[in-house]
Amino acid sequence: MLTDSSNALVLGASGAIGQALINNFLNDNRIGRVIAVSRSSATFEHPKLHWISTQYDEPSMQSVVDNLSEFKGSFSKVCICHGILHGEKMFPEKRMEEMSVEMMQSIFYANTIVPSLWLKLLRKLVMGAVECKVACFSARVGSTGDNGLGGWYSYRASKAALNSLMKTFSIEYARRAKNVKLIAFHPGTVNSEMSKPFHGTVPEGKLFEPSYVADCLSQLMDELKIDGELSYLDYAGKPIPW
Ligand SMILES: NC(=O)c1ccc[n+]([C@@H]2O[C@H](COP(=O)([O-])OP(=O)(O)OC[C@H]3O[C@@H](n4cnc5c(N)ncnc54)[C@H](OP(=O)(O)O)[C@@H]3O)[C@@H](O)[C@H]2O)c1
Repeated sequence: MLTDSSNALVLGASGAIGQALINNFLNDNRIGRVIAVSRSSATFEHPKLHWISTQYDEPSMQSVVDNLSEFKGSFSKVCICHGILHGEKMFPEKRMEEMSVEMMQSIFYANTIVPSLWLKLLRKLVMGAVECKVACFSARVGSTGDNGLGGWYSYRASKAALNSLMKTFSIEYARRAKNVKLIAFHPGTVNSEMSKPFHGTVPEGKLFEPSYVADCLSQLMDELKIDGELSYLDYAGKPIPW
């Protein structure tokens, strides 16, 4: 059943930041229902929470969107949280010799293709009278202008490609879903499985808790205006060079 207030959608919901966003939205009285989408089954239960388990092939994702038709036009906040940096047999490349087709394909699928498929499939669902902010988790290392260190070839390029795709989506959304604002969001270094191997190198006070980052993003989404543009912003709301 649709509620009077707006709803929130978290895609890639089982990760550290996804979970923190769900908690933030569950505690926000302006938000009626929180829909969480993940490969995993529900991590907890709550009367406001509706959990959907899926795989990330396009037909499965389309069926998630079809099953949410009763919520059409009701979403005010959508967060697309997918991202991988390392895995069982892969670690961010320090040198070009460490690049492999398998690693590039896995990272591009999770970081670039899955979020782009959601942006393609969600347009009709989020289009409507309710102002809707859609944030994809990018990263500062996806900035071409800010790349002073090198390395991390696949991850960097996957986020740069996501930014580029989002820019193109923003132009079409501005024409075909005028109530939507797209945000490429850098959360800072956040305490999660993803960042664990790198905690030793994070400066004092710069390893954020997921709940802090969820608060930052939620506030940013409240403040940003619908302007038909893609914003590439960090947790403090500061623009990042492309
Ligand atoms: N943590 C940081 O320091 C940091 C810094 C900069 C940017 N970010 C970005 O922030 C986002 C969230 O990161 P996190 O720290 O919360 O990481 P996390 O706890 O490892 O969560 C990873 C997320 O990615 C999804 N995922 C994992 N493997 C996938 C695959 N093969 N295909 C599609 N989706 C997959 C998971 O969705 P399921 O629920 O379906 O499992 C989960 O939501 C990512 O996009 C990451 O790149 C993080």
